[in-house]
Amino acid sequence: MAEADVKVRGEIDPEKDFQLSIPAGRTNFHVKGMDNADWGMKDRLSRIFQPKSGRTLMLAFDHGYITGASTGLERLDILIPSLAEDIDVFMATRGALRTCVPPMFNKAVALRCTAGSTVLSGDVTDETIGVDIEDAIRMNASCMAVQTFMGTADEKTSLTNLVRTVDAGNRYGIPTLGVVAVGKQMARSPHFFSLTTRVIAELGAQIVKCYYCEDFEKVAAGCPVPIVVAGGKKLPEDQALTMAYRAISEGACGMDMGRNIFQAPDPKAMARAVAKIVHEEYTDKEAYEYYLDTKK
Ligand code: 5RP
Repeated sequence: MAEADVKVRGEIDPEKDFQLSIPAGRTNFHVKGMDNADWGMKDRLSRIFQPKSGRTLMLAFDHGYITGASTGLERLDILIPSLAEDIDVFMATRGALRTCVPPMFNKAVALRCTAGSTVLSGDVTDETIGVDIEDAIRMNASCMAVQTFMGTADEKTSLTNLVRTVDAGNRYGIPTLGVVAVGKQMARSPHFFSLTTRVIAELGAQIVKCYYCEDFEKVAAGCPVPIVVAGGKKLPEDQALTMAYRAISEGACGMDMGRNIFQAPDPKAMARAVAKIVHEEYTDKEAYEYYLDTKK
């Protein structure tokens, strides 16, 4: 040990600069509601939400766990590497990631952690936890995604999946992303999204995903953690960009978009256009012009 370090009595070395004009110990964490989270949790959240913008663009390509190969997702091994640089987070199953996505992109991962039904049964609401916490750690998950089906007969089961995942994630500092699912029986009303996003946050999820709706500003204000907005069914590109712009302007902290990116005529140009809205304050019109200018 250097001599200076063992001088425990006497004055502090006057050459040491403690920068007393700056209040000590302050951190301004950029993710809504997460000031009191632990360091590891914050580190993972910072992989998801860019510190500069406070927002995220997730690419959702987990559809196959329910539907098989969706249109546009036939060849994940070709598509995903081509879009990796344009997005912040891979939202996917462990099977898709391990088999089709090289790990060297060093992207955040929103790992789909529920499973249990497919479109073949005609009812996709009956799910269980589908990934052990150990495997989520092994996958270096930045968060674990759990689908919830509030307002259905499977409400309790899916909320149980959510709280068990939150408990497991809290043990290891991994955030949980609670997804509001909509289905035949579930209305897409502001009331429904306001209630369900709040329930998910109060049950401990650190991130919530839902759809854009009327009065979204109130939905976002009433949810104490960040909301990322799902893309939903394919829309014309200008309409999808308008939806993203409205969501971000009205308080969403990001987009989690699948079909509106990978089913676009030029998925890469579309991913980049959405990123301009999410991270660079582009309007929908500017982003659409950017899309038209850059698409092949
Ligand atoms: C379903 C999901 C999916 O990941 C997501 O909705 C699919 O993305 P998109 O709707 O934009 O195609 O979480 O609940």
